[in-house]
Amino acid sequence: MRTLADVDLAGRRVFVRVDFNVPLDAERRITDDTRIRAALPTLERLRGEGCALVLAAHLGRPKGVDAAFSLRPAADRLAELTGWDVTLAPGVVGEQVEAYARNLSPGDVLMLENVRFEPGETKNDPDLATAYGRLAEAYVDDAFGVAHRAHASNVGIVAHLSPSAAGLLLQREVETIGAILADPPRPLVAIVGGAKVSDKIGVLDAFLERADVVLVGGAMCFPFLKAQGHAVGDSLCAEEDMEPARRVLADAQARGRHLLLPSDLVLGERFAADARRRELDGVDVPDGWMGLDVGPRTAQAYGAEIRAAGSVFWNGPMGAFELEPFSGGTRAVAEAVADCPGTTVVGGGDSAAALTLFGLEDRVTHLSTGGGATLELVEGKTLPGVEALS
Ligand code: 3PG
Repeated sequence: MRTLADVDLAGRRVFVRVDFNVPLDAERRITDDTRIRAALPTLERLRGEGCALVLAAHLGRPKGVDAAFSLRPAADRLAELTGWDVTLAPGVVGEQVEAYARNLSPGDVLMLENVRFEPGETKNDPDLATAYGRLAEAYVDDAFGVAHRAHASNVGIVAHLSPSAAGLLLQREVETIGAILADPPRPLVAIVGGAKVSDKIGVLDAFLERADVVLVGGAMCFPFLKAQGHAVGDSLCAEEDMEPARRVLADAQARGRHLLLPSDLVLGERFAADARRRELDGVDVPDGWMGLDVGPRTAQAYGAEIRAAGSVFWNGPMGAFELEPFSGGTRAVAEAVADCPGTTVVGGGDSAAALTLFGLEDRVTHLSTGGGATLELVEGKTLPGVEALS
């Protein structure tokens, strides 16, 4: 993968693909700007080299032009964080936008509107890629979060702008996650949580192969517990998750891998912060109750494994951490990851949100900005956005 060290971009007008797909509240205020802050090192470096920046990003999954998906909040937040004037273009491509791009001086920053306003973006349409090419003289991709997509602004465009290279964030993501898979300081502890086994099956397989211990939490532990003969009560436990859970258990046993499941749980009568709550010493969930968190004994045992690790990869919460009464297990894991003196990588999505909620985001080696991209990289899949730069 070409990086900024391989190319000379000084003084050029650079099309920079970033992932500013940030969560917004009902008033369209950004609730977590981690992805915007993560792109700053690349943007600062390029401006420092006298580049003018044409920034491209998507927000959500709009069907055509839709003001509710405008990148205005992201452009404003970037301006707030940096003090730069950030101009939001009146569209994505076309003559008017080209005129804006042509008029940029070194250091200027133009943000295109949501690239998914163009129907060709997600189809990697060659005409759209050509139109992007008319907006700049070189290409930098710092959008790790979309590297698992083959879209016009991260794959098609590469044929139209030269030189092209990965930005500092994309490089750091690929190198850090690659290193923990290829040559991790031992013991390697993988923590895999979340709602569904089928979403995480590739990650479980990858770590059963490599990790010294795999700790399982979140609602995805119920298919495993059911496969072992336990009652799951009203817990989330999709039938389609039973077969993969059985297979993973058999695999772990056949290979002598340490796959740890909860030994106690926190139950709620329903999925709500004000639901009746009780701790269960054991894992047989009575009818009328659902498992919403791992219990304190499990949290302590998992924490001990994590604190003693040489490296940690964490993806997926231990329970319904967004509901305060059921956040204890996820908090305990987050604190243990923060305390671990080894290399700690937290893979995007909910686990990143949990870490931020507990104020521990600065206490890990690497907090990935990817959701699906992180999972696919861990699963060993080739990411089209990365491949395009090789
Ligand atoms: C993400 O949020 O994971 C990325 O920005 C990709 O978004 P997408 O799943 O809509 O392609």
